[in-house]
Amino acid sequence: MRHGMKIGRTIAAAVFSLAISNFLSIGGQAQTPQRAPGAAPAKAPAAATSTGVVTANLLQLMRGTLYPASNVIFAAQNQDPAKIPPAKDPATASDPLASTYGQWLAVENSALAISEVANLLMVRGRKCANGRDVPLRNADWAKFVQGLRDAGQTAYKAAQSKNQDTIVDAAGTLSEACSNCHDKYREKPKMEDRCM
Ligand code: HEC
Repeated sequence: MRHGMKIGRTIAAAVFSLAISNFLSIGGQAQTPQRAPGAAPAKAPAAATSTGVVTANLLQLMRGTLYPASNVIFAAQNQDPAKIPPAKDPATASDPLASTYGQWLAVENSALAISEVANLLMVRGRKCANGRDVPLRNADWAKFVQGLRDAGQTAYKAAQSKNQDTIVDAAGTLSEACSNCHDKYREKPKMEDRCM
């Protein structure tokens, strides 16, 4: 089954993850210790965030990394990477599948790139395009990022197997990992409501 047809499963996963995040936030409130009057409000527990030099906002990061890398995985659903001919000049090809590091190797490397970009989604100091901070303090953000990291690993293993049925399933898993987070933080009628 091609990933675009897995809408039912995607919605089910999104509803489930919403239920989990509600559950977690209730649990979190119950555990908040009493604080003395006038004391600074307790900060939400920090997830495993990291430091780094930030040069792109979240929108630019998505467009520049996850978008092209995931398209390599999605393309492998429709065409057997082993049959993709090299470009006329593979060294300068802009399509990874037809490049020097092409075919299944391109699928492997794009899958690894996706898992690595998960780390960039946890770097402190990045803004969304609307100026809001990337919501690192929300527990479900880290959970969605982990889902992306895992989906990249699943796609990597599928690419190593060089089996197209396996990559079709992995592409479905990847597409769900993207939409689990987008459903909560991106799909808003107004840009200003993203990332909250
Ligand atoms: C942990 C959350 C999260 C995950 C996982 C995630 N995204 Fe995003 N993505 C966002 C948010 C939030 C935005 C909006 C960013 C903004 O407006 O600054 C976005 C925006 C985008 C955009 C730009 C949309 C536009 O308006 O132009 C693309 C493309 C995109 N994501 C692709 C992907 C793909 C492909 C994946 C999976 C391989 C993915 N994203 C996984 C949160 C996520």
